[in-house]
Amino acid sequence: VHWQPTDITRADHALMKNQTPKVLWFTGLSGAGKSTIANEVEKQLAVMNRHTFLLDGDNVRHGLNKDLGFTEADRIENIRRVGEVAKLMADAGLIVLTAFISPFRAEREMVRKMLPEGEFVEIFVDTPLAVAEARDVKGLYKKARSGELKNFTGIDSPYEEPVSPEIHLNAADLRPEEAAELIIRKLLPLK
Ligand code: PPS
Repeated sequence: VHWQPTDITRADHALMKNQTPKVLWFTGLSGAGKSTIANEVEKQLAVMNRHTFLLDGDNVRHGLNKDLGFTEADRIENIRRVGEVAKLMADAGLIVLTAFISPFRAEREMVRKMLPEGEFVEIFVDTPLAVAEARDVKGLYKKARSGELKNFTGIDSPYEEPVSPEIHLNAADLRPEEAAELIIRKLLPLK
């Protein structure tokens, strides 16, 4: 297989969209608030006429990654594919938002290295396990505690916290709108 160069480059795509591509990589426990905050950031970026796309774990697992479960190997493959898709979207000039637990440091670093310097923005949605578990919006923690659900992140499957994320949110203390404003302020200027 040979790499096929294209005349319209990634720089051209970015220029046409009048923005610098980014991959805003949200990571955190199930129920931490990743999807809610990413959704809020995307809405605020839309108001700013930015071109975006949000890749969400639950949604991607309905299509592209419907063959994957939650073993360590499947989670690694999940993040590898999402990283590749995010890269293609960034090549197209988009500001990509991803909301996946992405529990392993190695795969987050792998995605960072796939992208040009400065393009990957790791956002740690830091909600303590006790808070996420108390919310238990989908009832999954209850199932994990009772043993009905195996390999659940934070219970019987590990979550490796980011060491030096670009953005660290104490998400339990913030409303989603506040968290989104904080993120956007750190990203400016976006051109
Ligand atoms: S991962 O670890 O990055 O591959 O996971 P992700 O693709 O983000 O999918 C997480 C959502 O799947 C649901 N779910 C589970 N999460 C963790 N562990 C287990 N075993 C599991 N089984 C199902 C859960 O709803 C997660 O959604 P969020 O939005 O994170 O709560």
